[in-house]
Amino acid sequence: MELKTLEIAYSEYDSLSELSQDDRTLMEQAMKATETAYVPYSNFHVGAAVRLANGTIVSGSNQENLAYPSGLCAERTALFSASAQQPNQAVEALAVVGHFQGEFTEASPCGACRQVMSEYELRYHNQLTILCYLNGGRIRKISGVKSLLPFTFEAEL
Ligand code: THU
Repeated sequence: MELKTLEIAYSEYDSLSELSQDDRTLMEQAMKATETAYVPYSNFHVGAAVRLANGTIVSGSNQENLAYPSGLCAERTALFSASAQQPNQAVEALAVVGHFQGEFTEASPCGACRQVMSEYELRYHNQLTILCYLNGGRIRKISGVKSLLPFTFEAEL
């Protein structure tokens, strides 16, 4: 038996103003997207925005349903929408933020969204950058879905 460890590198920024112009714009679009969330059950508004290789930004928000599992997270709403509109554009970056009781708040992608992000890396042969808004206005930046989903499912099918 051998005990192995895994190290995950990521960056944290103190505020939006520390980000590059492109990343700041993406996070601002994610913030704006919280306004379109349909969340009668959780009241937790999530906004996501993805930046495509040609610079287009597509946003999405969480869409809930009375039959709870039928709803969809903001990240997948944005990713599927981008892919449906511009299937030939690689996804470069995704930003996500929550909004609860009048304040922007932390949001980190759920497991299913991480799996979906992984598919876009496979599909376009590029690394996806993930920006998460953290409480207090800090931003976490992760380069590559493998840092969010280690030992990702891979198969030659
Ligand atoms: N949710 C997202 O949209 N993205 C996340 O990263 C976490 C959770 C949604 C699902 C549900 O509508 C609500 O937030 C509460 O879980």
